[in-house]
Amino acid sequence: MTLVSKDIARAIEFLNAEDVVAIPTETVYGLAGNIYSEKAVKKIFQLKQRPFFNPLIVHLSGPEQLSEVAAELPDKAKKLAESFWPGPLTLILKKKPRVPDLVTSGKETVAVRVPNHPVTLELLDNLDFPLAAPSANPFGSISPTASSHVANYFKEKLSMVLEGGTCEKGIESTIIGFDGEEPVLYRLGSITVEEIITAIGPIQLKTKKEVAPEAPGMLARHYAPNTTTYVVEDVPQFITDHPNQKIGLLLFQKPLEAPNIKAQEVLSRQGVLEEAASRLYAALHKLDKLELDVIVAEKFPDTGMGKAINDRLNRATKK
Ligand code: TXA
Ligand code: MG
Repeated sequence: MTLVSKDIARAIEFLNAEDVVAIPTETVYGLAGNIYSEKAVKKIFQLKQRPFFNPLIVHLSGPEQLSEVAAELPDKAKKLAESFWPGPLTLILKKKPRVPDLVTSGKETVAVRVPNHPVTLELLDNLDFPLAAPSANPFGSISPTASSHVANYFKEKLSMVLEGGTCEKGIESTIIGFDGEEPVLYRLGSITVEEIITAIGPIQLKTKKEVAPEAPGMLARHYAPNTTTYVVEDVPQFITDHPNQKIGLLLFQKPLEAPNIKAQEVLSRQGVLEEAASRLYAALHKLDKLELDVIVAEKFPDTGMGKAINDRLNRATKK
């Protein structure tokens, strides 16, 4: 069994001994290790079964640690960091040579963020190194928003999950890189495009599904349950068209009734997209365990956090 505990001192011991610990963040849990330890970083890739071409995000204790790993800071990156850190924003910046190639998959850039979770901020404050941490799920599967999700995935292969409760945001960080001085949004996430535009003005979007992606969070099939999943505009029509299937529904506001609906998760009765986002992955984890024939998700309103929700739902579908 994995140790699931709030004991920060114990987590520090494991990390100082080059082991991997799952850590809570405001977005999802991460599988964390010392960026300078080849042993720890290799264990992260091995646990996740993640290809080495897919680089990791470096988690910093605060903006003052940025100069340790980043060589350049475009003006708009500075503005973004000031506006959103600590918080769910990842910046892709030119790296310093000391950041190991294993962490960045040999790229010239490093992805960095300051997570906004009290437990993990206290942890980072007590370490002499930043933490490399991808989401704490096997490659391609649903991201974890609770310690139990992580423990179920890795069992005794993982030494410890640092308990930090349910992740407040529930969807991964927004990723922004730079083409010279110009910002490019690579992954929709917990900070909305609207909020980014308010902070720095217009931004180019490169968030399409890709097979050989620039940022592999963009992989076409990612965040996927084992159960076949569809996103549809007209859920009642799907239910009528598939009378003999055991259907599980993922809905925004209102439950539905029909004999072939075997389970349903309503994400926000009040119609609040932030609430729906925070509950999305837990609902998918739950539905995926029920041996349904199919999970059918409703297409969400394509605005604010709805954009990131639709992005993750589209990547959860098998095509
Ligand atoms: O909210 C989050 O970002 C969570 C928590 C744990 O911080 N982390 C997370 O990590 O979602 P991960 O590894 O699942 O996704 C990180 C994404 C990947 O798509 C990776 O390809 C991209 O960031 N990435 C990392 N470094 C990069 C780089 N130098 N250039 C381009 N993309 C990069
Ligand atoms: Mg991930």
